[in-house]
Amino acid sequence: SNQRRPLIAGNWKMNGLATAATSELKELVALAKDHTAPKCDILICPPATLVREMASAAENSSVQIGGQDCHANDSGAHTGDIAAEMLKDAGANYCIVGHSERRADHGESNAVVKAKAEAAHRGGLIAIVCVGETLAEREADKTLDVISDQVRNSLPNGATASNTVIAYEPVWAIGTGKTPTPLDVATVHAHIREELAALMSDSAQVRVLYGGSVKGSNAEELMAVENVDGALVGGASLKAADFWPIVATS
Ligand code: G3P
Repeated sequence: SNQRRPLIAGNWKMNGLATAATSELKELVALAKDHTAPKCDILICPPATLVREMASAAENSSVQIGGQDCHANDSGAHTGDIAAEMLKDAGANYCIVGHSERRADHGESNAVVKAKAEAAHRGGLIAIVCVGETLAEREADKTLDVISDQVRNSLPNGATASNTVIAYEPVWAIGTGKTPTPLDVATVHAHIREELAALMSDSAQVRVLYGGSVKGSNAEELMAVENVDGALVGGASLKAADFWPIVATS
């Protein structure tokens, strides 16, 4: 129904030590090489400590590597933080920003997320900007308002379909095994697309991913929803054997 190339992205979160991670990544690379079927981009976002090693394990393959967060500044006195350019230097070409875990654990506002996405662009990375409502917001019927607010205020200046991806992750669906119905997903994705249309000239080409308890057994149904252009996968991205069936749906 569109020309958008799906993106199936894995977010390893705070998981992964070099030996086991390298073997999972190599297994994923091997699956990707053997298989000509996937008509999608494949991305793994490991913890920052593993970006360089995973990028080297993925060299000359269709698997790309991304960061999970970056600082809003390009360099300087920010102990413990990581600049987009450093991720790029280590082999990344994407960066997740504004994941709900960072919004919650680190108090990241829409303004901060927007600044980080702009920093990702300056560093040469594609920004994956995350949005999503909490359970309380959904139950109060505020989902679409929350999504509008997040999209309008977290979208970086200069966003285009080639430097920005949106990920819709309902907070209550993350790591819970619960997923919205296909109709609920369709409603939110259509709403995001409407918001984007007012903000960017090439909005029709922007990929909007769904995230939250995506796994092999529900991927096909979720990826078939109108305006869903891929997935952002947590738990089921840690093992190549769990992640591959999700990739293979696209
Ligand atoms: O960023 C992906 C994530 O938040 C979804 O996690 O474990 O529910 O797939 P999970």
